[in-house]
Amino acid sequence: MQFLREHLRLTGTHVGCDTSQCGACVVHLDGKAVKSCTTLAVMADGHSVTTIEGLAADGAPLHPMQEAFRQNHGLQCGFCTPGMIMTAVDLVHRKGHELSDETIREELEGNLCRCTGYQNIVVSIAEGAKAMANSDLA
Ligand code: FES
Ligand code: FES
Repeated sequence: MQFLREHLRLTGTHVGCDTSQCGACVVHLDGKAVKSCTTLAVMADGHSVTTIEGLAADGAPLHPMQEAFRQNHGLQCGFCTPGMIMTAVDLVHRKGHELSDETIREELEGNLCRCTGYQNIVVSIAEGAKAMANSDLA
């Protein structure tokens, strides 16, 4: 995460706890969600890393999961949001496009939000999951 933020200047990945508890730093490593604060750059050598910046191309429409958060007020301060979205996209890849509230809440166990009370995040993820079924960016 330090390498992403300080060397590559990809500051969309946030630093919360730095001890693998809050989920603010989640990125995809070979398509799977990982907490980058406890993933050394050397561990990612030879692997594909996607940050929140890479979900949609510059100037292109937002990724459907990003758009769902925007439409459903799935954020307040936004600090947790990049990690929430990266976790959510991985969740859809693993569990499909029809996600129950219970499943989403269980899967968000490793992502903390101090602002929203989670309800709008859960709604956003359920809608984003459905929208990903019809998107090239899924
Ligand atoms: S900063 Fe990585 S889990 Fe909190
Ligand atoms: S929106 Fe502020 S921490 Fe989640």
